[in-house]
Order: sequence, then C-alpha cells, then structure tokens
Amino acid sequence: MTVLRTPELAEAEILTRLCLRSKAVWGYDEAFMAACRPALTVTAVDWQQSDIQVAVDGGKIVGVAQVMYHGDAAELDKLFVDPDALGGGIGRRLFGWSVQTALSKGAKVMTIDADPGAADFYRRLGAVDDGTVASTVIPGRFLPRLKLGLANVPPR
Ligand SMILES: CC(C)(COP(=O)(O)OP(=O)(O)OC[C@H]1O[C@@H](n2cnc3c(N)ncnc32)[C@H](O)[C@@H]1OP(=O)(O)O)[C@@H](O)C(=O)NCCC(=O)NCCS
Repeated sequence: MTVLRTPELAEAEILTRLCLRSKAVWGYDEAFMAACRPALTVTAVDWQQSDIQVAVDGGKIVGVAQVMYHGDAAELDKLFVDPDALGGGIGRRLFGWSVQTALSKGAKVMTIDADPGAADFYRRLGAVDDGTVASTVIPGRFLPRLKLGLANVPPR
C-alpha cells in the first residue's frame, strides 16, 4: 500500500537521487542531466520555503512533490515518480496532494513549468496550457507552462 507523508530532512539525499533518476526517464544525455542537478538537489531550504510530500511503498520512497508559493499563486516545483513505479497512480495522488495543499494555503491557481514529456499528464489531470517559459537550466530551451485554476476545486 502506498502512503503519503512529509519527508524528514535526513531524507534529502534520497529525494535528490529520486528526482534525478525520475527525470532521466525521458532519455536525456549526461550533459543535460548534469545541468539539471542543482535544480533537482533537495536541501534544508526546501523544507523552509515550500511544502513537500513523499509517496512511500513498502518502506521505499517512490515519489515526491513540492509546492512553492508566490503571493496567491502556487507553483508545482517538483513532481517525480520512481521509474519502477510509473503508471501506478502515484503521480495522480501526489498531484492531488499538491492541489489540496495549495488550496489550504489560499492559492487561487497552481502553475506548472512542465517537462515536455509530462505535459500530457498534467492536461489529463485538468491543467490547461498557459504558454511557454524559458528553462532556468538550459539557455534557449522552452518548457510548456500549464495552470490549474483552484476556484472550483472542492476541498477534501
Ligand atoms: C509525469 C509523472 C509524474 C506521472 O506519474 P505517474 O505515477 O506515472 O502517473 P499516474 O500513474 O498517476 O497517471 C495518471 C494518469 O495520467 C496518465 N499519464 C501518466 N503519465 C503520462 C504522460 N507522460 N503523458 C500522458 N498521460 C500520462 C496516465 O495514463 C493516467 O491516466 P488514466 O487516469 O486515464 O489512467 C511521471 O511520469 C514522472 O515522474 N515522470 C518523470 C519525471 C517528470 O518529468 N516529472 C514531471 C516534471 S514537470
């Protein structure tokens, strides 16, 4: 059974490795993955400045989500599922947690600067396209930006 919980600070390195392993499923080369490493490194600051949740299955962390806030907008900063656990509904559950957490913090909208491979996943869960945004990692790369209005999302 998969459960969601807040991770411990001591698990930061496990989360970083999970994010990198998960990002790599799209077949990026070593140089790209090295460029992504700083953005995917989880540190104590993440606990201070955002909400984080992990999915745990059989004692193993198999997914992580992180939500940040900018005024009354929330941003889904990370959503990564272990490659061995893809397609099992963990992404959907962590996305649901992210939406509910953003709602509970008073956010009106949640934005997602998506990996191109994940954009259809977000569309499937109700997000809509909102243009593109320049990658903070690779100059000249643009990512699909999606958003989910929270006004009509019922709180759980
Ligand atoms: C995107 C990601 C989080 C999805 O997680 P997941 O656990 O595999 O997704 P789920 O099993 O919860 O899927 C929920 C629904 O979305 C669909 N879906 C999942 N990934 C999809 C994709 N890449 N494209 C289109 N649809 C997708 C599923 O088929 C499912 O649809 P259903 O309800 O009709 O059955 C996961 O693929 C991942 O971690 N990818 C690598 C890292 C990454 O790019 N993260 C996003 C950064 S912006």
